[in-house]
Amino acid sequence: MALAYNPLMSEPSTTRDRFYVTTPIYYVNDRPHVGHCYSTLLADTVARFMRASGRDVFFLTGTDEHSERVASRAAEEGMTPIQWADRNAGLFKEAFAKLGFTNDDFIRTTESRHKDLVTRYVRTLLEQGDVYLGEYSGWWDHSQEEYLTETVAREHGFKSPVTGKDLVKRTEKNYFFRLARYQDRLLRHINENPGFIRPEARKNEVLGRLRDGLQDVPVSRGGAGDGGAAAWGIRMPGDEGHSIYVWIDALFNYLSVVDTRERRGYWPADVHLIAKDILWFHAVIWPCLLMALGEALPKCVYAHSFWIREGRKMSKSLGNFIDMETIDAYCARYGTDALRWYLLTQGPMGATDADFSYAKFVEVYNADLANGIGNAASRVVNMIHKYFEGKCPPPPSDSDDNARPLPGRARDAAFRVSACMGENDIGGALSAALGLSNAVDVFINDTTPFKLAKDPANMERVGHILYDCVESIRIASVLLSCALPEKMGMLLGMMGQPVPMDDGSFEEPMDSLCAWGRLNPGDAITMGEGLFPRADGADPEPGAR
Ligand code: MSP
Repeated sequence: MALAYNPLMSEPSTTRDRFYVTTPIYYVNDRPHVGHCYSTLLADTVARFMRASGRDVFFLTGTDEHSERVASRAAEEGMTPIQWADRNAGLFKEAFAKLGFTNDDFIRTTESRHKDLVTRYVRTLLEQGDVYLGEYSGWWDHSQEEYLTETVAREHGFKSPVTGKDLVKRTEKNYFFRLARYQDRLLRHINENPGFIRPEARKNEVLGRLRDGLQDVPVSRGGAGDGGAAAWGIRMPGDEGHSIYVWIDALFNYLSVVDTRERRGYWPADVHLIAKDILWFHAVIWPCLLMALGEALPKCVYAHSFWIREGRKMSKSLGNFIDMETIDAYCARYGTDALRWYLLTQGPMGATDADFSYAKFVEVYNADLANGIGNAASRVVNMIHKYFEGKCPPPPSDSDDNARPLPGRARDAAFRVSACMGENDIGGALSAALGLSNAVDVFINDTTPFKLAKDPANMERVGHILYDCVESIRIASVLLSCALPEKMGMLLGMMGQPVPMDDGSFEEPMDSLCAWGRLNPGDAITMGEGLFPRADGADPEPGAR
C-alpha cells in the first residue's frame, strides 16, 4: 500500500474519541447557494454537538475543482482555470465563514497535498490491477459529468435525469476501475451494516440498482482526444494523455486530507453528509475504491433530499435559487441562528424534498424561537428579577419529588438529544431540546408562580418553581447551542454559565453541563435584550427583488 501515513511511526496521541464528518466538496463553477449551505450547516451542527460532547472532531468541507466545466467556463471568462477556481473557491470560503461554520479544514482539489495522494492511490490501484486500460462507449451526461448506462439513458429518453439536457453517445479509450470485482463484498457490507446507507429509502434505492449488477467504471478522461479538458485535471500516473476522472479525484478528498501522520486516526469517517444526487458515487463507487485500497469504510453515508422553491427544483434556468444575497438578507433581519433553525428543522433531512418558504420561516421562527425558547427564557428571567432581585432562588430539597416534573424532563431531553444526534437525526434532537423549554412554559402555566407571588407566604414555593424553570432553561440552552450558538451563548451568559467556544465546545463536556443542579442560590441572572423579537409576516421577504 502506497499510503502517505506510515503506521509504524508513532501515532499522535489523543485520549478523546474521534469523530470525522464531511460534506460534499462543491463544484467551483457555481456560486454557493442554500443547498451547499444546508449540507455544510448539517455537518457544522453535528460537529458542534460532538465537540460539546467532548469528542475530538474533524469537520471537512471544500471545493471540487478539476471539472471540465471549470475549464470551459474559465475560457469563456477569459481566465485560466485556476484563476476561475480561485475566485469561486473564495466565494464558498466567504459564505461558510459568514455563516459561522466551524470546519477544521477546507480542501481544494487543486492543492498539491490532495493531488499527490490521489496520484499515489491511483498508482496503487494500477499496480494491483484494479485499474486497467480499456475502451468505453456510453451515454455522457455533460451537465453532470457522468456516464449513464444504456438502460438508465433509455429510461430518461436519452436526457439527463438531473438537468434534462441531451445525452451524448461517446466512445473513449479509458482506464477502468474493476468495480464489478467488489460487488459481492459491497452487498454484504450493506446488508451487515444497516446504518451504512441512510435514510432507509436511499439504501433500498441502492440495493435495487445493485440487482442489475455492477460494471467496471472509467476513471480517466482524455482518451476521446479532448486534450483541453483532460489537461485540466490530475495526470493519470504513467500516461500523460489521460487525466483522472474528476469524480474519482473528488471522492479521494475524504481520505487524502486525513492521510497524514497527525490526522490518520480520524479515518474512517463517521459520516459523509451528501444529498441524493450523488448517492451512487458515495454508496457504491467510493466504498469499492476503499476496499481495493484496503481501507476501512466510512461508517455512514447519509443522503438528504433537496431544497426546492415553490414546488420546483432550484435551477439556473429558472433563476430561483436561494442565493447568498437572500441568505445574507435573512441573517441580517432575523440573525444567523434563526436561519440555521429554519433550515435545520424544516430541511430535507429525510427522503422528501422541502420547500423553502418565507411564510413557513416566519411561522416556525415565531412558534419555536420567539414564542418558544425566547419567551420561556424571558418569562423566567423577568420573574426572577421581579421576585428575587435577579438572584437565583434556592431549589427544593428533593429532585425526585413527583410534583417536580422538570428535573426528569431535563434528564430525558439530554438523553434523547444525544441518542438522536448519534443517529444523525438532527430534527429529532432539536425537537427534544426545544421540548424542554416548552415544558417550562407548561409548568409555569400549571403552577402559576405569578399568582402565588401575590401572597408573601408563598415566596418559598415560588422560588422552588422558578429554580426548576431556570435550571431547565439552562440545560435547554446547552442542548440547543449546536443549532443556535450565538443566542444560546447569550442566554447562558445571562445565567453566568460557561458559554460555547467558537468551535461549539465547552470547557466541560456536555454530560456534566447537563447534570441537574449547577445553578446555585444567589447566582446572578441578568436581563438581556429579547433573544428573538417576534417576526411579522406582513413584512416583505428579506432580499426580495
Ligand atoms: N462536486 C460534486 C461532489 C463531489 S463530493 C466528493 C458535486 N458538487 S455540487 O456543487 O453539485 O454539490 C452537490 C451537493 O450540494 C449536493 O449533494 C448537496 O449536498 C448540495 N446541494 C446542492 N443543491 C441542493 C439543494 N437544492 N438542496 C439541498 N442540497 C443540495 O456534486
